[in-house]
Amino acid sequence: MRLFDTHAHYDDEAFDADREALLTALPESGVEAVVNPGITVETSRKALALAERYPHVWAAVGIHPEDCAGSGEADLEAIRALAAHPKAVAIGEIGLDYYWPENPPRAFQQEIFRRQMALAEELDLPVIIHDREAHGDCLAIVKEFPRVRGVFHCYSGSPEMAKELLKLGWYLGFDGPITFKNARRAPEVAAVTPLKRMLLETDSPYLAPVPHRGKRNDSRLLPLVAEKLGEWKGLAPEAVAEAAFRNAVEFFGLEKEMAEP
Ligand code: NI
Repeated sequence: MRLFDTHAHYDDEAFDADREALLTALPESGVEAVVNPGITVETSRKALALAERYPHVWAAVGIHPEDCAGSGEADLEAIRALAAHPKAVAIGEIGLDYYWPENPPRAFQQEIFRRQMALAEELDLPVIIHDREAHGDCLAIVKEFPRVRGVFHCYSGSPEMAKELLKLGWYLGFDGPITFKNARRAPEVAAVTPLKRMLLETDSPYLAPVPHRGKRNDSRLLPLVAEKLGEWKGLAPEAVAEAAFRNAVEFFGLEKEMAEP
């Protein structure tokens, strides 16, 4: 099965010991494409450096809500400049995170989120949204930008909100947590989501699927996510992976790059 991991952080220090060996080996395991999102200006730069080095890696550039403290004009300008790189395929990850009390104030997170949504609109790039315990506000801000499309990464909202996003033309990202025993809403969300709007993600090094829960994740574990979705949809994992692969190619506009020679 060929796999497109639309969300993995290979710039993370968890990969310092074996990054090169791991990234080089991915295509042999069927992982033919990876999008590595940044969470700061610095990690967006690192993501692009990996994308320059590995033909099967692309980057998203953006400032994550947990890391936006102190961000200002200079950072947003830096993201704009990085987004012009030919291997930058999205703005992300951006959004809102109300989970951690020590995160920057909500109003400030919202401002940085809106500024990056406006940037995506201006540059005509898709966005990768991080939404943790901020479903209502994320949806409201998304609706302020009807010309921007994107994916809710590791979607954790209700089936009702999923339906609303799907109606707006958005995609939903499915990750390791759908394999966890306590994943109550995920089957309902998968049931209302057509296969053609699903993206498969790992969020490596985080969110490893069962039976690797708690360990370091990497893109080679993506078949476990495809398997779980296939179980719920009555499809072979290969069919889910192939559909999600095509979705990702279209979503990130990589038709030319991924065309068979
Ligand atoms: Ni992430």
